[in-house]
Amino acid sequence: MLSLHPCSLLFIIFLWSTVNSHSLSPFDVRIDHHKVDTTRDLIINIPRPQFSWKIPTSNNTSHRNIEQIAYQIQLESTKLSRNDQQFHWDSKRIVSSQSIHVPYTNQHDLLSSTYYQFRLRIWLSTSDEASEWTNWIQFRTSMFNIHDYIINNNDLLWIGSTKINMNEFRKEFLVPNTSPIKSAIVYISGLGYYELYLNGNKVDASRKLDPGWTTYEKRTLIASFDVTMNITAGMNAVGVKLGSGWYSQEQQHGEIRYGPPRFIFTLFVSFENGEEMQVFSDQSWIGREGSIKHDSVYNGEIYDSRGDRPDWAKVGFNDSLSAWTMPESLKSPINVSMNGIIVIQDMPPIRAGSDALHFEVLVDNYQQSYLNHDDIGEIKGASLTDGGILKPIDIWRSDSGVLTFDLGQNMAGWCRLKFHGPSGFGTYIRHAEVIAVPTISYNHDTRNIYTENLREATASDTYILRGDLLFEVYEPTFTVHGFRYGSIFNSPNALTVHDIECPVVHSETTLKGHFTTSNPIVNQIQHNIQWGQLSNIMSLPTDCPQRNERRGWMGDAALTVDEALYNFDLIKFYQNFLNLIVDVQLDDGEIPDFVPGRNYPADPNWGTALPTITWQLYRHYGDIHILEDYYDNVRNYVEYYRGSYNKTGLINFFCRYGDWVPPPPYPQSNAHLISSFAFLHDVYILLNMSQVLERKNDTNMYSMLYQHLTEEFHSAFFNKTSNFYADGMQAAQALALALPGVVPANVRGAVVDHLVNDISQKGNHVTTGIVSTAQIYPVLSDNGHHDLALEMISSTTYPSFGYMFTNPYENATTLWELWDSAVDGPGMNSRNHIMFGSVGAWFYSYLAGLDLSLSNIITIRPRMASENKKHLMKKLDCQLSSLYGLIHVSYTRDERDTIDNSILLRVTIPPNTQAHIIFEPLFAGGQCALLIEGNQVLWSSDSSTTIHRQFNVEKDSITGLMTVHVGSGQYEFLALWK
Ligand SMILES: *[C@@H]1O[C@H](CO)[C@@H](O)[C@H](O)[C@H]1NC(C)=O
Ligand SMILES: *[C@@H]1O[C@H](CO)[C@@H](O)[C@H](O)[C@H]1NC(C)=O
Ligand SMILES: *[C@@H]1O[C@H](CO)[C@@H](O)[C@H](O)[C@H]1NC(C)=O
Repeated sequence: MLSLHPCSLLFIIFLWSTVNSHSLSPFDVRIDHHKVDTTRDLIINIPRPQFSWKIPTSNNTSHRNIEQIAYQIQLESTKLSRNDQQFHWDSKRIVSSQSIHVPYTNQHDLLSSTYYQFRLRIWLSTSDEASEWTNWIQFRTSMFNIHDYIINNNDLLWIGSTKINMNEFRKEFLVPNTSPIKSAIVYISGLGYYELYLNGNKVDASRKLDPGWTTYEKRTLIASFDVTMNITAGMNAVGVKLGSGWYSQEQQHGEIRYGPPRFIFTLFVSFENGEEMQVFSDQSWIGREGSIKHDSVYNGEIYDSRGDRPDWAKVGFNDSLSAWTMPESLKSPINVSMNGIIVIQDMPPIRAGSDALHFEVLVDNYQQSYLNHDDIGEIKGASLTDGGILKPIDIWRSDSGVLTFDLGQNMAGWCRLKFHGPSGFGTYIRHAEVIAVPTISYNHDTRNIYTENLREATASDTYILRGDLLFEVYEPTFTVHGFRYGSIFNSPNALTVHDIECPVVHSETTLKGHFTTSNPIVNQIQHNIQWGQLSNIMSLPTDCPQRNERRGWMGDAALTVDEALYNFDLIKFYQNFLNLIVDVQLDDGEIPDFVPGRNYPADPNWGTALPTITWQLYRHYGDIHILEDYYDNVRNYVEYYRGSYNKTGLINFFCRYGDWVPPPPYPQSNAHLISSFAFLHDVYILLNMSQVLERKNDTNMYSMLYQHLTEEFHSAFFNKTSNFYADGMQAAQALALALPGVVPANVRGAVVDHLVNDISQKGNHVTTGIVSTAQIYPVLSDNGHHDLALEMISSTTYPSFGYMFTNPYENATTLWELWDSAVDGPGMNSRNHIMFGSVGAWFYSYLAGLDLSLSNIITIRPRMASENKKHLMKKLDCQLSSLYGLIHVSYTRDERDTIDNSILLRVTIPPNTQAHIIFEPLFAGGQCALLIEGNQVLWSSDSSTTIHRQFNVEKDSITGLMTVHVGSGQYEFLALWK
């Protein structure tokens, strides 16, 4: 059973009450996509932000069809100095149903570096009265011209040292007491990583590994903190720690090493009387080598705590033991001649522990669900509601005396350890994903950690004790590890589970999808996807978190973005990544295979990250600005491959990796077909984008191109004698079928049959690599073989997802890089790669059948196992938090034994939206006999039955599909088939 931590229970109760207690005002407000409720210091970086909010529902389940008819926003400046002018905007009552991406319509832009507050209220179709106002929501704007300010300010220096490992810096400064402090705002960027301290304390304690990794010469991110509460009149002290990060990463795999770490800092203090003062990073600071003797993303940290100076960031600190010296002025990392810029980090930071993950869905809530604990089965691994800190579930000492523990969950993070021992005692912590098994180990002590698959990354931390009287606690500062097991070598004391805890570390996000079923294999896969996804959002989407790699591989990012956006709120995160991609796009449109990176041109299935992420962000969030922002880049990108295509045709289309890592012994399918798939896919996206943006010339041009390419794809790759594509492998059939318009109607049946036969011949197993695995499940569901797709996803024999956690070697709690990771040797063999997680999108969009791409019209079409395969998916429960509110879908098949061929479906549709709910026949040729909602008959094949026409119900005479159109509210349907 999923163990429920007492805290998580409390937590769930708390959540439930917040979700339910929305009085009458709009809630979960967003401004410029920032979620107000979870953003601490809300900084808006543009002069005309958009607003989104959710509309409250009462708990009266008969309350339906709630629509917004008008809204009002009031916004005003706050914290004014004597001479500042009050800024005030009242939208007045605006008649509009729009409740997401609502524009700022005031004629005056927001000003730079200003505090504001806003509130809003709405009018609903159900009442003549306005809702209550929300509370005033505070935010501030950033310094909009931060780049120019920094580039042109000669007093502001990047400081560091080329001579010593200078990684701790301090300065004291005097704040005059002539007038009260109005505000104190810091801007800081430290490369690779920095931590900021003020008057002794870390500013924003859970924020880690900041700023985000970028192509620094093109884009350096700078963070801002409001420290008004932390500065006082008189003397103050500021401290900065620096780490290497990706800026000074040890070169192992072609990493770029730009030079020693450096930082830039500026503090603006404004006084009520209108005066200002500034503090800069310059040579009036002093620096030294602190306790961190070495730090590296891949290799961890060496920390000698005898160098700790607890008061180093406090006023009056005097250190007679270490040498503090003047830092050097170092070169700016930004290359202005390459259009390099320094910009505000406009996305949630990386955080550790409970601050890293927020919740919009109620995990372990069975209200409105047909599922209960027993249906779900045992899920191995930690719960996301465990508070972001994992404790060992097992701990043991090997023959050699090494202490090893098992967290029971693979993840990205580090260990926080409690030691007791003499000063100068050194202890060494290694991290690993798996325990060595005899078949793959060079070390036959079977309970030792296996680290060969980390390759050259040592993934270890070394800690030298201070010798504190009771105990001392260590956790690393500027590294992160991907691991499930830890071994402590040379531990000074006998550690127990109480001395070990491991914070989970990733970019701050919100869980917005919860998907669970009566199929325990699917549930475990979903668990592994969510943990794998969280492990791979580290300021940018990475391939893996553990070995000497951890890069922004674009193929992995493109394959998983749909899944990731169902599970987590990541709009700002992916917008940042799109910016990073565009930063390194060459004039001719080409982009590299990984970003940051220089591997040009990308394999088309890698470069597709640019069009795919743009399109998926639009589909999931419905904000047309995303398409506008990247349209030219996507077009330029597609044109690059069009040039390449003009030279080679599809038959020889450029390809580098093909359908990467199919399960041995199966080879890759035709590489040119695999990359042609990406080209057609991207032309199709561009065509769709041009339609949404009404760029008619492009729509015409790319329609013609796409049409032409579909014909060429078919003629180049279709084998007329065998009636299959290319070599007949699953990948070739799945990719051809996935592309609209490629497979002509007269051979479609044969191609599908060939694919299905091949899968059956392989014992219902895939032979697909990462590109075609993302397509094969939807293709089967769309082509009359949903049962087979369910059989495949339920498989636990090699090769399958289920095999990853049902094999003699390992109970995986994340997804493997290779279908055969268990038996493959050292080298490329990660146990936490997210690229196969693409199947998670199929869970939401096919198994639960949720499609949000029509913005305020939600389509819900759960795909049904046929009656004789219903054991594969008898019950399902899915929550998805959309920008409008929570969507809930729960069904059960043949719930009442006396009624075969029936489905009970509960759905919750959020206010201000409508839904098309589509019922599929439960067996081939099935016809709907009866469709009931609550206790009213909506449809009956028996003409003598009285029908309630409260909803629009349609029957598709060809497919037998039944569609019900509803507004917001909770519904309970019963559909009977005969
Ligand atoms: C929900 O129902 C409870 C009990 O019937 C009631 O006290 C409460 O006011 C209701 N809440 C809302 C928001 O209508
Ligand atoms: C700054 O002040 C706030 C409010 O009192 C406090 O919560 C925070 O911990 C302080 N930060 C530092 C670095 O002292
Ligand atoms: C490719 O060929 C087409 C037709 O011959 C031409 O219109 C187009 O400009 C070419 N595109 C590139 C990028 O070379």
